[in-house]
Order: sequence, then C-alpha cells, then structure tokens
Amino acid sequence: MLLNLLLAFILLMGQVRSDPDPLQDYCVSPPHSPHQHIFLNGNLCKDPTKVTVSDFTTSALSKPGDTRANPFMTNVTLTTTTNLPGLNTMGLTMCRLDFGASGVVPPHVHPRASEVTVCLDGVLLVGFVDTSGRVFTQELHPGETFVFPKGLIHFLYNIDTLSSALAVSGLTSQNPGTQFVPMVSLDSKLQIPQDVLKRLYHINDQEGYVASIRKNLGG
Ligand SMILES: *[C@@H]1O[C@H](CO)[C@@H](O)[C@H](O)[C@H]1NC(C)=O
Repeated sequence: MLLNLLLAFILLMGQVRSDPDPLQDYCVSPPHSPHQHIFLNGNLCKDPTKVTVSDFTTSALSKPGDTRANPFMTNVTLTTTTNLPGLNTMGLTMCRLDFGASGVVPPHVHPRASEVTVCLDGVLLVGFVDTSGRVFTQELHPGETFVFPKGLIHFLYNIDTLSSALAVSGLTSQNPGTQFVPMVSLDSKLQIPQDVLKRLYHINDQEGYVASIRKNLGG
C-alpha cells in the first residue's frame, strides 16, 4: 500500500516537470537553419568547442517595446533560443513587459510554464483564475512579485491612466507558448465556426456581434 502510494507520488512528480533536464552542462542552440528537416523536442546542440560567452548573453530585454503599436497598449519582449541560444534545454524564459497608460496584457495562458513577475515601475493589477473559477487578484508595486501557476488564465493591467509601467517575468520553459483567451475564440483567422461562437456567447448574432468583435481584434 505504502509502496503503491510512493510509486504514484513518484509518477505524478515526474509528470509535473516542465522541460526535460539537460544531459550535459549546456546545449547551446545553433543558428536557426531554414533547411532543418529534423524536428526535436527542443533544438540541436551547437558544437561545444564553438560555444562562446555571447551564447549566454543577450540585450534583447534592454530596450522598451513600443506600446503604441497595438490596441492593448502593451508590449512583451521575450528571450528565445534565437536571441539567447544558451537557454536551450534550460527550461527558462525571461520577458520584459512594457505597459502604456491603462495598458493590459489580456487574459492568456502559458500551457508549458509557470510565471513569476516582478513589478519594476508603476502599479499593476495582476490576477489569475483557477480551475474552480476562483479569481486571485493583487496590486503590485515596484519590487513586489506575483506567481501565475502553470496553465491558468491570467492577466496584467496598468491601473495608472496617465503613466507607463514596467515588469519582468521568468517562465519555467524555453518555449512557454501563449494563448490569448479572447483572440483564440474570436480571431477570424482561426476560423472557429460562427455557429460555435454564437452558442458560446448565447447570441443569435442578428446584431452582428461576432463580426464586430472580430473586427475590433483585427480579424
Ligand atoms: C513591440 O515593440 C517592438 C519594438 O519597438 C515593435 O517592433 C513591435 O511591433 C511591438 N509589438 C507589438 C505587438 O506591439
């Protein structure tokens, strides 16, 4: 009985791991080749004798993203195995989140990563929803940190209507993946059938709600 419990526990622990552990000190991602025809869970490793310190360094997060380039007034800049090749197999991503006044990162999920966010400047309202529908929200001031559990819907919002805000996040996968909830259901490029959306939102769409929301989202 005890042994079974222990085995079940070990199996469960194995399944919550995010990315596989590296089997060597590092596995620096080689420059992306458009001719690559092998697909791996991760990237190939660069010849270790050719690895340099620049593979472990990036200034990708040093510059503010342009928050006026989209209707949400936010801009998220990520490290990737392209701009930081040493991340390959390390199970990590960093991101910089720039918020214009009243900027929002709309509700979204990362299917492969938990996220920890530090507010560096401004005041953010952040939150997530668990699978029972409980909502956890918190105001974050500079230096304060919040955790978004893996795979749960979450959002970040700059409550200041006049000033910008800045935050930095770490994520527990080199490829966290992002699905925005409103865009996934209403982005017309995804072509979820209109009839499904009408049932989802309980509308008969004589007023053209689906079409107008899709238009607002750029579809
Ligand atoms: C984020 O900012 C960069 C750099 O200014 C810009 O090129 C990019 O279009 C912006 N992205 C979005 C989604 O607004």
